Amino acid sequence: MKCFRTRTVTTLASMALLAALGFGASACTAQSQSPIGSGVEPQAPQLSPDAAPQAAVDVRLGVPPPTATPIQLAWPKPQVDCTIAKCVALTYDDGPGKHTEELLDHFADADAKATLFMLGKNAKSRPEVVIRAAAEGHAIANHTWDHANLRTLSRTKQKAQLDKTASLLRELSDQPVTMMRPPYLAFNDDTVRLGFAVVLQDVNTKDWQTLNTSTTVKKVLDGVRPGSIVLMHDVHKSTVDAAPAILRELNKRGYHMVTVPELLGEPEPNKLHFRQR
Ligand code: NI
Repeated sequence: MKCFRTRTVTTLASMALLAALGFGASACTAQSQSPIGSGVEPQAPQLSPDAAPQAAVDVRLGVPPPTATPIQLAWPKPQVDCTIAKCVALTYDDGPGKHTEELLDHFADADAKATLFMLGKNAKSRPEVVIRAAAEGHAIANHTWDHANLRTLSRTKQKAQLDKTASLLRELSDQPVTMMRPPYLAFNDDTVRLGFAVVLQDVNTKDWQTLNTSTTVKKVLDGVRPGSIVLMHDVHKSTVDAAPAILRELNKRGYHMVTVPELLGEPEPNKLHFRQR
């Protein structure tokens, strides 16, 4: 499958980058997508989209022209057309945590995709999970560096929280990190004007309050409708344990479990997104 090969290359690039960042290659646990024997040559990591464009070089000065041009990251073309198909975006906040890989296993078993709104500080301590999630086709998004209440911060401090996180997530995932969800769902006008697509939800499971697997399953299945964005937290074992039943039932109901960019198309920046229109 073409997408898989692309992802494998992406994984390799990310792994190389991880090593370059000093995280240590042994941290990588990308499962069945071992590069060994895949026949695909590793490629250099792509430049992040906000890298400064290469300045024009005056060849008269004897400076060689750049050999590579910056590559703009873009969301891959959706595999499902959610303007026709019945889609839902299952989203998870606050990770990556110690249960996130188990969640990824459940999604892999169901051939489903999630959107993970990650904290920068957690991505820094579990970079291999970010790499694996991105390699397996999940969308990586921004949930600030350390779960800041953005409503209490100046515009400059809000931007610093989001930019630092986006930069790390972009390096690890090789994805455009264009979406954010504010912690506590707390934001103000400044938050919406920082260049990110602000992704909220239309189904709030409040899984962190109940910490109960069957209640979380019921909240999702009772609340979901075509085009929904469902909010959960992958740092809770009870929520991760809810995934198999949720995925099984949604599949039975004919839903495609897609990422937010697949659901919405290219998520529009400086706008609030609650669900598919
Ligand atoms: Ni949160």
